[in-house]
Amino acid sequence: MDTDPAVTAAPPPPAGRRRLPEPLGAGFLAEPERTLGGIRETCPVTRIRTPAGRPAWLVTRAEDVRSGFLDPRLSLSGGRVPDPDVRRRALDVTLVNYDPPDHTRIRRLATPALTPGRMAAHRERIEQTALDLLDAADAGRGQGPLELMDAFARPFAFRSLCEVFEVREEERAALYEPVALLADKTGHTARAVEESVARIDAFVRGEMARRETAPGEDVVSRVLAAWHEQGGASEDEVASLLAMLLLAGFDSTVQAIGMGVVALLHHPAVQASLRAEPERIPRAVDELLRWDTPGPFATKRVALEDVRFGDTVIPAGSGVLLSVASANHDPRCHADPATLDPERRSAGRHLSFGLGPHYCPGSALARLELAVALRALLGRWDRLEPAVPPDRLAWGGGYLHRRLAALPVLPHGRT
Ligand code: HEM
Repeated sequence: MDTDPAVTAAPPPPAGRRRLPEPLGAGFLAEPERTLGGIRETCPVTRIRTPAGRPAWLVTRAEDVRSGFLDPRLSLSGGRVPDPDVRRRALDVTLVNYDPPDHTRIRRLATPALTPGRMAAHRERIEQTALDLLDAADAGRGQGPLELMDAFARPFAFRSLCEVFEVREEERAALYEPVALLADKTGHTARAVEESVARIDAFVRGEMARRETAPGEDVVSRVLAAWHEQGGASEDEVASLLAMLLLAGFDSTVQAIGMGVVALLHHPAVQASLRAEPERIPRAVDELLRWDTPGPFATKRVALEDVRFGDTVIPAGSGVLLSVASANHDPRCHADPATLDPERRSAGRHLSFGLGPHYCPGSALARLELAVALRALLGRWDRLEPAVPPDRLAWGGGYLHRRLAALPVLPHGRT
């Protein structure tokens, strides 16, 4: 053991510089509100150190989070302007790294492809996907618990994306591998990650070529149609946009399904009432998204100028974390926020899809998938119970994207 204090002791913080709190550690992933609620009520705009060791400002009250989303001085690009001469690959250009006007010219190609009306056209096939997966899961489980993430949430979200992208059956298995790897890079080498990006890039460019000659009603064809009509983006940027839609659309939805089910497992009366009146499920989806969300914070912003929230000024150059999860539980916006109320009037004001220019373009698809998934699950069994207590659930991912590794449930009485 090394006993030399000159070697083992951490250097003292420089005089006058306070050690920053680090509230987003391991316990945070399981129960974000336990940490965020205290901060919101005592010190709503505060400086912390992230688990990655970087200083950042945390903004926790609903009103401030909303105004932060709408404030152009809080930048996602950090002031960098893309160089049009650099050749780009899938994911080199993602919407969440751009600010207007670059963001606007790319983003407008995606919006018409993902409207609620367009997504509704895929409803029947997505419903059938849910029923097929539950048939298979039920047949394969015997009497034991069902691991819902692998048996249902992951394949359901992936196949739903394949439906709206109209990915050919024979390509789906090969596409799943890189999508799943990039959603959770844990335990994978940098080389494996690189290869996955290259595979997605090749897939997207192949689909673009195919849809140029045989356009359909799918997302790729719609994005290409908007691009030909409006121009304003390079081919690389369009490929990147499509890749981002595929990737951003997968794990967030997987996790939202898992977290919605966890909420219903621990609120059996709400579960029973939605099973009895499934027409209330679409509205309940927003309350479940308010209740818990995979992304407790929006993508980190950088303050381009000093920005004031109440009495606190965040200095130019600082990193800013807008806390969606805290805003969703702010009693100033949602009365009695610790009650899961599927009829809550304010539920639609949750910020789980963000707000403003970067508002989630996939929200209609996500809402559709959640409603279909919950209806199919509740309709399949008389009762779903947790197979493990909440404190035994395995949480992974990180403070920006929480991830349920597994969700064992005990289904009772097939309907
Ligand atoms: C329940 C599931 C989902 C949640 C909770 C979610 C959440 C979010 C949030 C909070 C943002 C804004 C980020 C910010 O401003 O920092 C966002 C952006 C985005 N989401 Fe989603 N999302 C979900 C599903 C989807 C789906 C299904 C798709 C695609 C089909 C998608 C594609 C995107 C894209 C491309 C962006 C970037 C938009 C931009 O920067 O303009 N998301 N999402």
